[in-house]
Amino acid sequence: MTTMLITGGAGFIGSNFVRYVLENRPDASIINLDALTYSGNLENLAGLDEDPRFASRYEFVKGDIADRDLLAPLLDRTDIVIHMAAESHVDRSILDSAPFVRTNVLGTQALLDAARHSHAGKGVARFVHVSTDEVYGSLPLDRPDLKFTEDTPIQPNSPYAASKAASDLLVRAAFHTFHMPVLTTRCSNNFGPYQFPEKVIPLFVTNLIEGRKVPLYGDGKNVRDWLHVLDHCEAILTVAEKGRVGEVYNIGGDNERSNLDLTRAILDIMGKGHDMIQPVEDRKGHDRRYAIDASKIERELGWRPTRSAWPDALEQTVRWYMANAEWWRHVKSGAYREFYKQQYSGRERVGA
Ligand SMILES: NC(=O)c1ccc[n+]([C@@H]2O[C@H](COP(=O)([O-])OP(=O)(O)OC[C@H]3O[C@@H](n4cnc5c(N)ncnc54)[C@H](O)[C@@H]3O)[C@@H](O)[C@H]2O)c1
Repeated sequence: MTTMLITGGAGFIGSNFVRYVLENRPDASIINLDALTYSGNLENLAGLDEDPRFASRYEFVKGDIADRDLLAPLLDRTDIVIHMAAESHVDRSILDSAPFVRTNVLGTQALLDAARHSHAGKGVARFVHVSTDEVYGSLPLDRPDLKFTEDTPIQPNSPYAASKAASDLLVRAAFHTFHMPVLTTRCSNNFGPYQFPEKVIPLFVTNLIEGRKVPLYGDGKNVRDWLHVLDHCEAILTVAEKGRVGEVYNIGGDNERSNLDLTRAILDIMGKGHDMIQPVEDRKGHDRRYAIDASKIERELGWRPTRSAWPDALEQTVRWYMANAEWWRHVKSGAYREFYKQQYSGRERVGA
């Protein structure tokens, strides 16, 4: 049995990853370490610890990745670390970057140290650091030939991206200085079920269901590459199992869309008029375009996306939010925090 420590497993990508691993790797057991910040939601994983297929292989630990006393015994039981815990929302980082530096930088440093010192100094077998294409900065709209490769210089523009870039550099240093078996992934924008409804797709869909307009930044021409979250999960697992240590792997969907095109597509799927778009002042320092060259992971590890093709994949995701109103209404009302208290309080292992 391989034990994976997944940090941030109650978030959007983390909860999809926990399910994906339990369903696809019967010889893997999971420790899900999550501090349950505003974006951590155990309703994303409802039913897992009662499911007889998974219960004996899944454990939730509420705790902070910066808590070194909590980390040491957990890492001694861990073979592979999949590090996803982060403050993840650019707009929040513009309002206050302190939690981003604390979790993304200091938290990653604490986790790296604990992973290295574990198993009586032998350390964990693999440490996968889940990062973002945003560390590369921004590409111009008029150069569609340009894409981020793993050799593109790190030039983060938002406090979020800067904190992720700092964590990437700590991971890189751990490889060069301590020969830690680290791997870094840098992925484009994810979409799919269980995304916190402050992010564009669930925000827009849920606003429209509630009869509200959708706030579109600036001229709407900013371009993002979109990847289905399960394609991302599969790519992370592929890197964990087959990647070369010390390497960075870009992950993308080859699926570039402007925010305006994305918004119109959501409106069309939901049968709403384009007059529901409410232009709002642009995000400060808004990166113009992200585009990923994911040829390295395809060439070396044989991974390519199979679930991200538009318009079908977008439509499935929109319909998931339409069909799961109870899930996002709990998030928007704050009731999801009660679920944790009712289901877990007193039963979980709680960190400091
Ligand atoms: N969402 C995307 O499109 C995207 C794209 C590329 C990379 N990423 C990266 O993937 C990872 C997951 O992103 P997401 O969208 O699922 O984020 P999310 O905000 O949905 O989830 C983050 C999780 O981390 C937990 N967490 C935060 N601080 C913590 C701490 N100090 N200790 C323990 N747990 C903590 C939260 O409770 C939450 O469950 C992040 O590292 C992010 O940078 C995300």
